[in-house]
Amino acid sequence: MGIIYHEQEHIFKLDTPNTTYMIGLIDEERFIGHVYYGKRLRDTNLSFWKQQLMGPLPSRRNRERVSFMDAYPQEYPTHGIGDFRQSAFEVKTVSGHRAVGITYKSHQIYAGKPKLSGLPATFGNKEECTTLELLCVDQHLNLEVILSYTVFEHIDAITRNVKIRNQSKDSIMLTKALSLSFDLPDKGYEMITLHGSWARERQIERRKIGHGIQGVSSIRGESGHQEHPFIAIVSEHTTEELGEAYGVNFVYSGNFTAVAERSQFDLIRIQMGINPVEFEWELKEKEEFTTPEAVMVYSSQGIGTMTRTFHDLYRNHLIRGEYKDKKRPILINNWEATYFNFTTEKLLDIARNASKLGIEMLVMDDGWFGKRNNDDCALGDWVVNEEKLPGGLEYLVNEVNKLGMKFGIWFEPEMISPDSELYRKHPDWAIQIPGREPSQCRQQFVLDYSRKEVRDYIYQRISKILHSANIEYVKWDMNRPLCDLGSYALEAKNQGELSHRYVLGVYEVQEKLITEFPHLLLENCSGGGARFDPGMLYYSPQIWCSDDTDAVERLKIQRGTAMIYPISCIGAHVSDCPNHTVGRITPFETRGHVALAGTFGYELDVTKISKEDQEMIPKQVALYHKHNDLIRTGDYYRISSVLDDPCRDCYMIVAKDKSEALVTYVQVLARPNFQSYRIYLKGLDPDAMYSWEEMNLTQSGEAYMQAGIDITGLWGDYKSMLIHLIRVE
Ligand code: GLA
Repeated sequence: MGIIYHEQEHIFKLDTPNTTYMIGLIDEERFIGHVYYGKRLRDTNLSFWKQQLMGPLPSRRNRERVSFMDAYPQEYPTHGIGDFRQSAFEVKTVSGHRAVGITYKSHQIYAGKPKLSGLPATFGNKEECTTLELLCVDQHLNLEVILSYTVFEHIDAITRNVKIRNQSKDSIMLTKALSLSFDLPDKGYEMITLHGSWARERQIERRKIGHGIQGVSSIRGESGHQEHPFIAIVSEHTTEELGEAYGVNFVYSGNFTAVAERSQFDLIRIQMGINPVEFEWELKEKEEFTTPEAVMVYSSQGIGTMTRTFHDLYRNHLIRGEYKDKKRPILINNWEATYFNFTTEKLLDIARNASKLGIEMLVMDDGWFGKRNNDDCALGDWVVNEEKLPGGLEYLVNEVNKLGMKFGIWFEPEMISPDSELYRKHPDWAIQIPGREPSQCRQQFVLDYSRKEVRDYIYQRISKILHSANIEYVKWDMNRPLCDLGSYALEAKNQGELSHRYVLGVYEVQEKLITEFPHLLLENCSGGGARFDPGMLYYSPQIWCSDDTDAVERLKIQRGTAMIYPISCIGAHVSDCPNHTVGRITPFETRGHVALAGTFGYELDVTKISKEDQEMIPKQVALYHKHNDLIRTGDYYRISSVLDDPCRDCYMIVAKDKSEALVTYVQVLARPNFQSYRIYLKGLDPDAMYSWEEMNLTQSGEAYMQAGIDITGLWGDYKSMLIHLIRVE
């Protein structure tokens, strides 16, 4: 059992294999304090820890209540009763007051992990998980707040979420309801976040945590290209292998906030949840609100271990469905090959050539429906354009299937073009404020997914298309953020619920889709990687990582993405050169090596590329088949990064049983008068012997890791190589 209540000390001790999290109840009032999070504790004198970490309590509590509230480390701080740091929970009552305060009432500890209704969440059975529910109350408001914690017995991860139940007769407005908060004594901590933009998502950034509030957020209605629902708190000297790292990640795909606040007494408060900007939720009598889940991972062995813990958690306890543990078909997508300019014949031409080279699936991207010949129109009109596709989908898909290939299709189901049949019929289905001209983005509006009739209509359109032919893959795209927030279906006082209701609506439709089509491979996408988050991973086992397919840019984007997300879910393709986003020309071989650290596929016109590049495809396909099991299931290690050294990038994947490893080395820029580069491998069994397949060399794991290996013989910029090590004894 990973959770024990120590009655005498009033401490809940939550243990994973290598970490401990402790919650303490403070004296007769039963405040819920945060005691400890870090390396697993063997010590049984828990009172010492409580006393040491929570500080002495003022003896004349009521006289100095504010000083107490404003200083003690809290588990779920509330607004307006004396803690002036960032709160996790705020309300507005019918009488207009905002203060709320919770104290412990009771708890239960049980094996397993409950589902979160309508929300994505990690899962685990009774052998794998133990859950603690702390029932807390605000007696004045008659509100119940249930703080839930689940520990994983075999993975160093703890998940949290909060339920709020209104037991009073009056309705109450929730104005902030975060999913996670805890306070750590500062040890000179720094913060790692992922920032970005379209075509350069999830770049790693590290900064010192100063006094006051710092963090990342989104109010775009999606997690976004720009900032990411993830923070790692690391000590100053933390490296890939050494030092403390606390990672928190949000299993949600809409507006978020993630902050670290350093207080006057040098406590660091870490918080994560739905962004209170653009959030309100009315709770009527007996109603309940459930926050999304937040994940916490602690590593005392550096950032690398934190990363691998997230990978294991998400591969085993978040990603679902038929493809969870399966190799994905190698696809060719026609977007960069043709953009909107294609016909059945053109697609079949691509498919015929691709199938001969070993490619296994054709994906038809944007432009197959309504009058969609550019991105100005037709979103919402999910009817096949038979001018482009004579014989419709059935003919095209049958022909593709005859080549031995699968067929996939693109949708953007959350959108509506002002120039569409759907908008002309249902202008009120778009999110907008009556009377105010809404802002367009890529000349489109967002559908109001808070409305059941909208969700049902769109779902029915998708379902009909999927039933009309043998379609085995869907790319679900979402190409603009939300603004002009207004729903024709919500009352004035409930307009603040739209952003969250929208996300719940998207989840509902995706759940329906994968339930009705359990064999479908779903890939989420959002203008590249604007919604690459654990929420979407619950529905689709892979997500398109970025519209930037340049191999060098991808090194940075995939590195940041793999900070948290397993390689098995990172959508990566070999595309044409000069690259359509940056104009860079990189060798076809390098593009292939970089795309192997992902789902792998192609995004080019295979009929137009050079003969040499064409000839390389079967070799890359063979590499994919040879290494994909290892890449999907192994442990990922960062070795060096083009962000730190513009000349090179290197990472490796080691099999769980350490029987083999694959190193990818990219010489980003050649350096004159340098005979070799030395890299030090990681994660191997030091006592085992490994043969380097491409060279005639057998060495111990220890030698590969401690003496390292020399990279020689790469001539020119953007050159790359794979090193495959196989354990021989
Ligand atoms: C987005 C996606 C691309 C492509 C286009 C189609 O930008 O990220 O891969 O599907 O939309 O419009």
